[in-house]
Amino acid sequence: MEGVMDPLVRQLLTGIGGYDLCVSEFMRVTHQLLPDHVFFRLCPELQQGGATLHGTPVHFQLLGGDPVCLADNAAKAVCLGAPGVDLNFGCPAKTVNRHDGGATLLQYPTRIFNIVSEVRRTLPLDTPLSVKIRLGYNDTHQLIETVQAIESAGAQWITLHTRTKADGYRPPARWEWLRTVKEQIQIPLVANGDIWSVADFKECQALSGCEDYMLGRGAFAQPDLALQISQKKIAGIRFAMIWCEIRQLIVTHSHMAALSRNETFAIQRGKQWIKHLQRNYPEAVELFQQIRLTQTLTDFLQVLGGGLPLEEELKFAIPPAKA
Ligand SMILES: Cc1cc2nc3c(=O)[nH]c(=O)nc-3n(C[C@H](O)[C@H](O)[C@H](O)COP(=O)(O)O)c2cc1C
Repeated sequence: MEGVMDPLVRQLLTGIGGYDLCVSEFMRVTHQLLPDHVFFRLCPELQQGGATLHGTPVHFQLLGGDPVCLADNAAKAVCLGAPGVDLNFGCPAKTVNRHDGGATLLQYPTRIFNIVSEVRRTLPLDTPLSVKIRLGYNDTHQLIETVQAIESAGAQWITLHTRTKADGYRPPARWEWLRTVKEQIQIPLVANGDIWSVADFKECQALSGCEDYMLGRGAFAQPDLALQISQKKIAGIRFAMIWCEIRQLIVTHSHMAALSRNETFAIQRGKQWIKHLQRNYPEAVELFQQIRLTQTLTDFLQVLGGGLPLEEELKFAIPPAKA
């Protein structure tokens, strides 16, 4: 998720566990082969074997409307270390859609077919290519044509955010569409949209019959949601992270963000995360009021409670090297 699920968040969440795969924030491609540093900024995991430090693969996401240019950039992502490529035809942002990228392409299933075919043709055979879509642009009338086009163009799976572009993010997500779509294609369908809790997951699973799920905002609002869901299948019960663990996570994130970027970034992203946590943690409501106006990292961390000394923070964030 652009501006939210950055490399640091991916590292922390995959450290908590429950994820088989991550997808990078999108790289917008217009008419050129982008330079290496753009790939590495969006996805530093490329330089560490294409996975987070906890070993979860990170696929590289591209967004655009030009088949050849997308294919060239996809091939470059793989050369730089991406274990897989994802194409984004779901983004509803006006600027993106105005520049022939994201959900606007859902109006043209043939163009989607051409893009997916060209990218598939260019990538090595053993590199998975997946496609992220919504139910449609204004409505769902081209949905089945679109998923069939994606399948026949050679994609390995489709992730479906069960809203149209016109729906924006208005709840509820329309999970009932998943089963209909699943029946029309042979490749796996990954369910996405409004999975905020284990109960949501169970309801979506019952309705859709899907095997795979993608978490977006729910992963941010409940950092151990994927772990809860995956362990649910094995042990049947798991308690959610308690507030002091969550607070520690934010402190760690802030230190890492300040070290890798700068203090302003650390504070802005820290506040954003606390805002999302308000959904599940009443403590976050009070904390947000306290940190809302803080402007320095020292003040921000002081309100958060300081956390552990920096060396301990980093031990928590970075797993020990394998022998
Ligand atoms: C701020 C924001 C940024 C997003 N950026 C991306 C992105 O870069 N790539 C993508 O495939 N989806 C992106 N999405 C969409 C999410 O991946 C997801 O499909 C959507 O939020 C619905 O799932 P959720 O209800 O679990 O959040 C973004 C969503 C939000 C709210």
